[in-house]
Amino acid sequence: MNEFQGKRIVLGVTGGVAAYKAAELARLLIKAGAEVDVVLTTAGAQFVGVATFQALTGRRVWQALWDERMDNGMAHIDLTRGAAALLVAPATADFLAKLAHGLADDLLSTLCLARNCPLLVAPAMNRQMWENPATQRNVAQLRADGVSILGPAHGEQACGETGAGRMLEASELFDDLYASMQAKPLAGKRVLLTAGPTFEALDPVRGLTNSSSGKMGFSLARACVEAGAEVTLIAGPVALPTPRGVRRVDVQSALQMREAVMQALPGQSVFIGVAAVADYRPRQAAAHKIKKGPDSLALELEANPDILAEVAARPDAPFCVGFAAESRDLAAYAEGKRVAKKLGLVVGNLVQDGLGGDTNAVTLFDAAGAHVLPPADKSEVARGIVAHIASLMEKRHGQH
Ligand code: CTP
Repeated sequence: MNEFQGKRIVLGVTGGVAAYKAAELARLLIKAGAEVDVVLTTAGAQFVGVATFQALTGRRVWQALWDERMDNGMAHIDLTRGAAALLVAPATADFLAKLAHGLADDLLSTLCLARNCPLLVAPAMNRQMWENPATQRNVAQLRADGVSILGPAHGEQACGETGAGRMLEASELFDDLYASMQAKPLAGKRVLLTAGPTFEALDPVRGLTNSSSGKMGFSLARACVEAGAEVTLIAGPVALPTPRGVRRVDVQSALQMREAVMQALPGQSVFIGVAAVADYRPRQAAAHKIKKGPDSLALELEANPDILAEVAARPDAPFCVGFAAESRDLAAYAEGKRVAKKLGLVVGNLVQDGLGGDTNAVTLFDAAGAHVLPPADKSEVARGIVAHIASLMEKRHGQH
């Protein structure tokens, strides 16, 4: 994936144990196509050495205000010119205090003051330092000044205490940094999604399910957050981490999924049904484990509610998006579902192209016709779908 292709990121590293995560972040950014200029403070260099960052980024590390590499001796200004963002990770309590007061006594703090690109900071400190009124005052001031504060997380700390102040993980910083650089066509909108399979219990240990991995739904949830939406994800049983900023509700069966959707529905602007909801459930789930018996066993099934159709049929329905995974005749089936379920958009794909894997090839069916998205990684496809939803919502808004 080339999420940062053509982008230069300035990564400031101040003196905290979490500096080791900055090395991992540099690696992720490079892998995603970024150019990374690392600026180490004197204290930062106590935790991770110059050689590490140099090897990871393939560039020399910046440390001194008077670095002779810039012809004009203006490293403190020129380094952020043309950069997509300046991210300080970890940012110590001391560094946040300096920033809040506009101090500029070393290369990194001077760069922050003289920047012409967005500034993001990832605080990392002991919980008492984080909770201290002085730090909270400084953070509030930085927010008011337009600085993005990433984290901190809550958890175990290097000092042995537990609380808020842990720096976010490298992958979380990566996601937040990427999200901060995206357009926000869904700002102010609330999006509700279903994802994954459902599990219809037969007895306490067995059930009917399917091979949906949930990856497409989770990627879409993440893409909606990146686009500025407030996102709720109702997830069937999947082993996937919750995307940053998403409110997640875990369910098992189709009936539980329906219940959770109906509860979360008021106030939603968009509903996206990505889940592979079981069409049928056992008429009765046995209270105890079904024992081996005669040669054959007949299961009686009954139909599950169609969650998407039910949401779309409501008078106050949000903009509804469905998925059609077909094994043949994609266009006819997908368009048929769109009309039958009264959906604004159907995302169609052939099961052989998407199920379970990391990539997908989809076609979007809306009132204006079919639009083919290029085959890509599921995250990239998700971003394409979200951009299309946003443009349809924009049009719909224009018509009202
Ligand atoms: N869906 C749903 N609730 C169900 C079944 C499906 O919300 N009980 C949603 C899915 O999340 C998906 C869309 O409806 O967005 C299409 O589901 P699909 O099962 O393909 O549609 P069906 O009308 O059941 O058609 P098929 O005969 O192909 O199963």
